[in-house]
Amino acid sequence: MLHKKCLILGASRGLGLALKSKLVKVPLISVSRTGESDIKIDLSKERAVDDVLSLVIKEEIEVVYYVAGGGPHGDFFSKPWHSHEWAFKLNAMTPLGIIEKIPKKVEFVYLGSAIAERSESKDSLSYSWSKKLVKKAVLSSSNKNLLIFSPPYMDTGLLPKGAWPRLECPNLVLKADVVADALLSWMETRGPDERCFDWIKRFDYDLPKGFEL
Ligand SMILES: NC(=O)c1ccc[n+]([C@@H]2O[C@H](COP(=O)([O-])OP(=O)(O)OC[C@H]3O[C@@H](n4cnc5c(N)ncnc54)[C@H](OP(=O)(O)O)[C@@H]3O)[C@@H](O)[C@H]2O)c1
Repeated sequence: MLHKKCLILGASRGLGLALKSKLVKVPLISVSRTGESDIKIDLSKERAVDDVLSLVIKEEIEVVYYVAGGGPHGDFFSKPWHSHEWAFKLNAMTPLGIIEKIPKKVEFVYLGSAIAERSESKDSLSYSWSKKLVKKAVLSSSNKNLLIFSPPYMDTGLLPKGAWPRLECPNLVLKADVVADALLSWMETRGPDERCFDWIKRFDYDLPKGFEL
């Protein structure tokens, strides 16, 4: 597995960068908007789907990690519409557009969120529902190379400094390094029908009492 040619979408920071650092011996192309990635693509733009698909075909990519993600936090209507549009495009429209046309032999791994997929919180509606949508779509497909890996909280720039998990349960906020190891280990050992890795189910992850998932 770890010799397959990879494309990491969202590789300049956080989990994507951790993943990249563990795949140094693997042929790999990294993508982001900023930082030291090989290619700059803004995955929230409409042409990103075609750009990524061309790259996959031209470079004979065997595994795509769709790691980029994000969205506004707070009451839905207090946030500008363009921030929701951005979140829908980055977390749902672009990955779904890629999934629709990607060659079936290519493994496509979407980074879900074990919290957002369960959460009824109104503070991240565009992000959470995009994550839920892509998970449902991936699992409804008969293409066994569409995979979803859903970690819980991670200690990256995506989780704001004052976010409650950092304050209330810092032990539940995982290092990106640890999550990257788990992802790569799953990719090596998963069975052919195993398409979904949910950190909360897998590790009996124990959120504090009072936090309703
Ligand atoms: N952090 C958490 O608590 C947490 C929990 C569960 C799941 N997740 C999921 O795990 C994944 C990785 O999250 P993270 O915490 O590592 O995030 P992060 O630290 O904010 O890094 C996000 C990466 O995505 C890239 N990116 C963002 N917008 C992009 C765009 N429009 N076009 C291209 N690249 C873009 C960023 O690069 P540039 O800014 O340079 O473009 C960066 O490399 C995401 O899908 C996230 O939803 C995160």
